Amino acid sequence: ASDIEKDLSTIHYTEDQILAKLRELAGRIEQDYEGKDLLIVGVLKGAVMVMADLARSLSRHVEMDWMAVSSYGSGTKSSGVVRILKDLDTDISGRHVLIVEDIIDTGLTLTWLVSNLQSRGPASVEICTAFRKPDAAAKMAVPVKYVGFDLPDEFVVGYGLDYAEKYRNLRCVATLAPHVYS
Ligand code: PRP
Ligand code: MN
Ligand code: MG
Repeated sequence: ASDIEKDLSTIHYTEDQILAKLRELAGRIEQDYEGKDLLIVGVLKGAVMVMADLARSLSRHVEMDWMAVSSYGSGTKSSGVVRILKDLDTDISGRHVLIVEDIIDTGLTLTWLVSNLQSRGPASVEICTAFRKPDAAAKMAVPVKYVGFDLPDEFVVGYGLDYAEKYRNLRCVATLAPHVYS
């Protein structure tokens, strides 16, 4: 195994499985947004891979924009207070916006982001995430329209998901082996 592969325990989803799922979601998105313009908004940095693959699975016009956000202060995200590091370049008033994420964990980032974008007067705001953790599946208040896969509550990396900024470039999504962080 390569150096990076030695750091993984369970592989949850392979690149082929992820791409097949994104094609399925893209098909639903094409139907749901038929006759409407569509702006997909990727949340940096984790969503880069999903954005690239989802956008290329859409056989229709789509615009792409990006936001970078960060939870306020240091430590955990549990405050739910988020600050914008990079805002949209696009005025979204009257537009159909689909937020694209790699993963929803607590749901706090997206709960804040949806209400922030809603305040700008878009025609609609929906969420598409490649992966979702159990906490968000159980108690997130904001509905998530498009979900790729549910993941167990483990330290997962790959396909955009990082540990200390590494492992984003893995093609699969896997649990990080404990020896890496203990
Ligand atoms: C990760 C992930 C989501 C968010 C989910 O991003 O990419 O954006 O956390 O967590 P939540 O549901 O508990 O709010 P992170 O803040 O690590 O930034 P990154 O995308 O640059 O890795
Ligand atoms: Mn992120
Ligand atoms: Mg991260």
